[in-house]
Amino acid sequence: MKHRAIGTVNGLYPSLTTIVGCVVSGKANWMTVAHLGILNHATGDKAQYLGVSVNPAHYSSIGIREHGEFSINIPSRAMLEATDHVGIVSGKSTDKSALFPTFKGQLEFAPMILDCPLTMECRLHQTVVLGKDQFFIGELVQTYVDEACLTEGHVDLQKIDPILFDFMRTLYWSLGEVIGKPWSEGKVRKHNNKSQNKALSPA
Ligand SMILES: Cc1cc2nc3c(=O)[nH]c(=O)nc-3n(C[C@H](O)[C@H](O)[C@H](O)COP(=O)(O)O)c2cc1C
Repeated sequence: MKHRAIGTVNGLYPSLTTIVGCVVSGKANWMTVAHLGILNHATGDKAQYLGVSVNPAHYSSIGIREHGEFSINIPSRAMLEATDHVGIVSGKSTDKSALFPTFKGQLEFAPMILDCPLTMECRLHQTVVLGKDQFFIGELVQTYVDEACLTEGHVDLQKIDPILFDFMRTLYWSLGEVIGKPWSEGKVRKHNNKSQNKALSPA
């Protein structure tokens, strides 16, 4: 490889393309968000936090700050056009509330999109302001998944068929194929290291 410095190009793509839902002035509003974070990943009862980076100029920002609640909806490839649309038009000038059939979970102000195979409702925990953006960190309250997207009780990404976002070439991508198992593929090397170390250690 021959590396070339290309400036501060963010290489953390692809990211997941999501639709963040909230309530502004009594109506649902939707915006596309591809800049997200996962904090304190945990299973079971421990609190988990999800971050969404939202420019304060966006209409959604008003609703999330006012009610302290939002949803993160994962659209499938079939929703590409609608997903891109809510990332182009603003609730400031266009009422986006009727664009999707919705359902409500535990929270009052976190409408979720029925057509999205996976949705999550979040309660705002903390807001971090950095540069031009604010990072809304929400505690994950509940996740809802279309039963058809489960395989042996686990969310099956292939069935979700998510839209991936690439800001380096400004493209949408779909998922590729499964190439291995985390915490498993490297074990062969671990075993090899062990036998190598054994061979190196004095008799
Ligand atoms: C693919 C895509 C990803 C986007 N990701 C973000 C993002 O992470 N944060 C953000 O503030 N805006 C993002 N936007 C822009 C907003 O979705 C867009 O400005 C939207 O119209 C804001 O809607 P609102 O004013 O009704 O809240 C994205 C747009 C697209 C098309």
